[in-house]
Amino acid sequence: MEESKQIYTISIKRDRKYLNFKVELDSTLTVIDALDHIRFNIDPSIKYRHSCHHGSCGTCACIINNVERLACMTFLYEFNDNIIKIEPLKSFKVISDLVVDISQMINKMPQSSYLRESEFSTDSIKPNGIIEWNRFENCIECGSCVSACPVDKDFLGPSVLSSIHRELEKQKNPKIIEDLKKQAFSKEGVTACEKHFACSKVCPTKVSPGKHINDLRKLK
Ligand code: SF4
Ligand code: FES
Repeated sequence: MEESKQIYTISIKRDRKYLNFKVELDSTLTVIDALDHIRFNIDPSIKYRHSCHHGSCGTCACIINNVERLACMTFLYEFNDNIIKIEPLKSFKVISDLVVDISQMINKMPQSSYLRESEFSTDSIKPNGIIEWNRFENCIECGSCVSACPVDKDFLGPSVLSSIHRELEKQKNPKIIEDLKKQAFSKEGVTACEKHFACSKVCPTKVSPGKHINDLRKLK
């Protein structure tokens, strides 16, 4: 893609209003680059999360032109009309601007997940405050699936049910299996899913939460 400077209107949701910024940016930049540009050059008060800038950490997920996406993996040239509306994920408590509290999702993830010190090292050192390593396969815990899911009742949600299913595929401990199934088949579990498959459409790492939920149903 060739570089091309264009005028973009970046509209960032703050509470019930939108902050609008007209900026000249290269179309090959990402939405997170646009947010950085605004924060560093125009309005240092805007709040958003990011870490890796390459689609691995999941922290930058937000709603961009009405679709859940990773801001660091979404390029400005993907939008024809040069108007980019950025909103926080739905279904989570908004902390500020685009920053949401995803702890409600993380806290429901199975605590028994396959644990190892790290991928390859046998003597890795845990940073202060980290008790154990947790791995949830391809899920980067971005929360996009939870935001896109239209189910409007108590529901564990697509990411949690996917991680329960992956865990059940690997787990050998009968007590843990029993506990996971109890959680999966509770009234907030698979029965609350209405099979919209909105989760699978937005997942940036192709976890296919809808398929995991379907496969989980078969384990009853
Ligand atoms: S299942 Fe996909 S969309 Fe949902 S939290 Fe994990 S990576 Fe994000
Ligand atoms: S900043 Fe890590 S996924 Fe976007």
